[in-house]
Amino acid sequence: MITSASPSRTVSPAFTTTAVTTPSTSEITGISIFMESRSTNSSPAATFCPGSTETLRTLATSSAVTVVMGPLYGNNRVGLGAHVPPQSPGRAIRLLDVNPSPKASASPSPHQATWEFAEKFVPVGDHAATARKLSAALGVTPISTGTAALLTLLGRLVGARSAVEIGTGAGVSGLALLGGLAADGVLTSIDSEPEHQQAARTALDDAGYPTRRARLIAGDALTVLPKLSDGAYDIVFVDGDPLETVEYVAQAARLLRPGGVLAVNHALVGGRVADEASEDDDTVIMREVLEAIRSMDEFSGTLLPVGDGVLVAYRH
Ligand SMILES: C[S@@+](CC[C@H](N)C(=O)[O-])C[C@H]1O[C@@H](n2cnc3c(N)ncnc32)[C@H](O)[C@@H]1O
Repeated sequence: MITSASPSRTVSPAFTTTAVTTPSTSEITGISIFMESRSTNSSPAATFCPGSTETLRTLATSSAVTVVMGPLYGNNRVGLGAHVPPQSPGRAIRLLDVNPSPKASASPSPHQATWEFAEKFVPVGDHAATARKLSAALGVTPISTGTAALLTLLGRLVGARSAVEIGTGAGVSGLALLGGLAADGVLTSIDSEPEHQQAARTALDDAGYPTRRARLIAGDALTVLPKLSDGAYDIVFVDGDPLETVEYVAQAARLLRPGGVLAVNHALVGGRVADEASEDDDTVIMREVLEAIRSMDEFSGTLLPVGDGVLVAYRH
C-alpha cells in the first residue's frame, strides 16, 4: 500500500536490495517512507519524499510497482515505496525483503555502528540461537541480543530469585531472565499464545532448565497478572501487547518487592518516541509509560538505548 502525506523529514533507510523492479522512471512521482504497524489496524503512516526520487530512480529497471519492505523495529516495519499516478492501473505491487544488516549498508552511520557494536558485545549462545530460530519460525520478534544481556545482568545485580515476564514468545527473553536468576530461581512467564509457549518450553528444555524453574502460564496478561502475589518478585519484564503497557507497569508496581527492578522492552518504539511528529498508538502509549515512571513515587527509572530501547526502573 502506498500513500502520500506531508513533506518529508528524513530519508535514511539503511537497506540494500538484491532485486528491485519499479515502474518506468517517467511514471514515478515521488517516494514514500512509511512505518507499518503490526499491532494496530491503522494505515501505514507515510511520508512523501520528493527529494529522494533519485534514490528510487536508481532502482528502476522494468515495469512492476515495487514496495521495498525494511526491517522490523518492534512491531513496526519500515517501507520504501514508489508513487505512481492513478492513471497507471493494474500495476502489481511486489513485496521485497531487504537486508537490514548494517554490513549490507554502504555506509552505516557512526551511531548505527556503535549500536551494533554494543549489541554484539555479549555473543549469542547456542540455546539462545535455538530460541531465536523458533521465534523466527513463529513470526515472533524476540528481544535483541543486547537486551538479553541486560536482562541477565539486571537479575544478577538484584540477586533475583523470582521473575515475571509478560510476553513469553519463543523463550529468548525467558532464557536471558533465567540466566540471571539464582540456581533455584523461578521464572513466571505469561503469553496469550499457547503455541508460543510450547516453543519456549522446547527452548528451555534444550537449555536444560527443569520444568519447575519456568512456570509458563497461557492466558491474557491482564487476566493473569492480578492473580500473582503482591511484592513477591524481584524482576518484572514487560514485552507483551504494546497497547497494554501502562496497565502492565501498574501491575509491576504491585508485584515487585522493594529493591526489585522493572524492565520494559521497546521503550523507544523504533525511534518514534523521540520524534515529536510520531503520534501512532504504540508511541503515544510508550510516552505515557515513560511519563508514568517519571511521576510515580514507586519507581526511579532510566531509559537505555539498547535494542529497541529498554526502560529500567528501580522499585522503592
Ligand atoms: C514480542 S513477543 C515476546 C518476545 C519474547 N519476550 C522474547 O524476547 O522471546 C510478544 C508476545 O506477547 C504475546 N502477547 C500479546 N498480547 C498479549 C496479551 N494481551 N497477553 C499475553 N501475551 C500477549 C504474544 O503472543 C507474543 O508472544
